[in-house]
Amino acid sequence: MTLEDIRALIRTVPDFPKTGIQFRDISTLLAHGPGLAATIDHLCERAEALGPSAIAGIEARGFLFGAAMAARLGLGFILLRKPGKLPVPTIGHDYALEYGTARLELDPTLVDDGRDVLIVDDLLATGGTALAGAHLLRQAGARVDHAMFVVDLPDLGGARALEGADIRPQSLVAFD
Ligand code: PRP
Ligand code: ADE
Repeated sequence: MTLEDIRALIRTVPDFPKTGIQFRDISTLLAHGPGLAATIDHLCERAEALGPSAIAGIEARGFLFGAAMAARLGLGFILLRKPGKLPVPTIGHDYALEYGTARLELDPTLVDDGRDVLIVDDLLATGGTALAGAHLLRQAGARVDHAMFVVDLPDLGGARALEGADIRPQSLVAFD
């Protein structure tokens, strides 16, 4: 299945969660067996070329792709969670979203010093979420040089924001 086939399986919902937002909904891709398998294949092929020592996924939709990749590649999977979910002391970082504000938290004891961690999420918009994740992982001692997404929304400038923090983003498909 090509990247264009994968793109065609992503549904666009206008005016969600707010008027004017074109919501790129991966539910339809996840529900399509061959589409989901091909998405994980493409992501893993790119991740293998980078050779990370662990994958960190961002709650919630980043968990779906990141954990599947980690299992396939035999790598550990680190949770970057929304606030108040982790049962141990955490470090946290607040950030702005395309439509609001949010916070991510990490258990820093899961990160070994110098570990080369690949960030995975479903979608790159402004880059605020991935940057918050990278900030926390670096604070915990990780190296974060790469981030991988299924979808990029290039008009929102996320790739530039990540490059400004020395993180190289890769995405499978883009929507203007
Ligand atoms: C969405 C998406 C990314 C983030 C991208 O998550 O899954 O994590 O927004 O936006 P950004 O690049 O502007 O930061 P959302 O916060 O909606 O959470 P969810 O995965 O729990 O639905
Ligand atoms: N997260 C941030 N912006 C989004 C969008 N336009 N569609 C889906 N998820 C998003």
